[in-house]
Amino acid sequence: MAFYYDEPSHTFSEYLLVPGYSDENSIPSNVSLKTPLVKFKKGETPAITMNIPLISAIMQSVSNDTMAIALAKEGGVSFIYGSQTVENQAAMVRRVKSYKAGFVASDSNLSPEDTLEDVLNLKEKTGHSTVAITSDGTAEGKLVGIVSSRDYRVSRMEPSLKVKEFMTPLKDLVTAPEGTSLKEANDIIWEHKLNSLPIVDKNGCLVSFVFRKDYSSHKENPNELLDSSKRFVVGAGINTRDYETRVPALVEAGADVLCIDSSEGYSVWQKRTIEWIRSKYGDKVKVGAGNVVDSEGFRFLAEAGADFIKIGIGGGSICITRETKGIGRGQATAVIDVAKARDEYYKETGVYIPICSDGGIVHDYHITLALAMGCDFCMLGRYFARFDESPTQKVLVNGNYMKEYWGEGSARARNWQRYDLGGAQKLSFVEGVDSYVPYAGPLHDTVSVTLSKIKHTFCNCGALTIPELQKKAKLTLVSSVSIVEGGAHDVVVKDTNNHN
Ligand code: IMP
Repeated sequence: MAFYYDEPSHTFSEYLLVPGYSDENSIPSNVSLKTPLVKFKKGETPAITMNIPLISAIMQSVSNDTMAIALAKEGGVSFIYGSQTVENQAAMVRRVKSYKAGFVASDSNLSPEDTLEDVLNLKEKTGHSTVAITSDGTAEGKLVGIVSSRDYRVSRMEPSLKVKEFMTPLKDLVTAPEGTSLKEANDIIWEHKLNSLPIVDKNGCLVSFVFRKDYSSHKENPNELLDSSKRFVVGAGINTRDYETRVPALVEAGADVLCIDSSEGYSVWQKRTIEWIRSKYGDKVKVGAGNVVDSEGFRFLAEAGADFIKIGIGGGSICITRETKGIGRGQATAVIDVAKARDEYYKETGVYIPICSDGGIVHDYHITLALAMGCDFCMLGRYFARFDESPTQKVLVNGNYMKEYWGEGSARARNWQRYDLGGAQKLSFVEGVDSYVPYAGPLHDTVSVTLSKIKHTFCNCGALTIPELQKKAKLTLVSSVSIVEGGAHDVVVKDTNNHN
């Protein structure tokens, strides 16, 4: 006879936290959201600790190099999507690792023979007012001047006027050589009252710019997550098919951590993938695995050697796995069950394997609930897809700006490797949808609000760290009637914007 669980499985919206005692230390600025990303032995420090408990989903519509840089600035980690060629994925990882905070590759470049009209068109396109003038009009060409808004007056000049007639020529520019540190660059900007400082190589070719306005933004990111060489930490997704070529390329490109991306992780394929990585790299290459939804799945991947384990089947916003295949489990119940298994495993072996709640985060407080239920961090797709930094198009739909967001199992992504069970190498049916999500501006703004809400809830529960919350949290299931009570009710709401 089949096994039946005693209890129905629940999701986050069915739970609430009951406040605990808060003393005078329970203030948001005292809360630390630091959390381990990879397994560690009792008494030792994990090889990677994140400054915030958020990672971005391994999806074409979420995690590219731009997203990875933006999230690492906040203290989290992106896992660059694996449903692309090995070369392209490795190139994205390389771009994150070679990104030097404060040094920006020029995206607005023209040649001296171009015109004022070209300058205006470019400014319209990029939104940037500093244009590098190089001999061949490329970002790496020989620098011959700069055009900024101080160099022209549209009302007094002909659109056909050549750039060379009004640019600030190289002889009047302050530049700095390649190898200049950010601190030195900022000192030069300050001394010479510049808005931008071009960095040039020994042949006089443009390398990058340092902008005055970025100085403050750099200081605004005290949480940024860096490796020992002060480069941003970045993850990358892999699959159970082409790991023998993909993993070496990603490791070579500098990926700090990998994760097997699969809709269902309790499988021999994941075990084989981890075994191959261990045989080639030992413990040096960190690899997460998943997804599982119960203690058996956890134990299997823990014993297979996973560095962290992801939880979640069917709860993703774009996911129709439960509808198409009838598999899955309420996300809250899955997290609670796996957290118990993780704690037992830790007691038995002295090895702590971080667990990640993946998918289904709708409200910010769901993150706090997931943490309280025992997970160490959350993976989010929809949440990050809404920001400027996600790889997808911003489009106007019925007067509102939206970003596109599609599942890895959708006909658009056709990531068959994610759903592979060792059969035909194709997506037999779709398990995800193609959708829009409301555009939400720059990542930094929303992530700051989310973290602030999480920290406030921590304080309400009298906890200043994630482990403390896990110890102190009091969770209650709520009835469907009390969920109605939880929203604004019996009033006519003036501003219907909800701030998820
Ligand atoms: P979200 O944060 O609720 O949008 O869920 C994101 C998660 O959904 C990802 O991290 C994946 O685990 C999962 N996912 C991504 N694409 C698909 C799909 O096409 N079908 C089912 N699940 C998906």
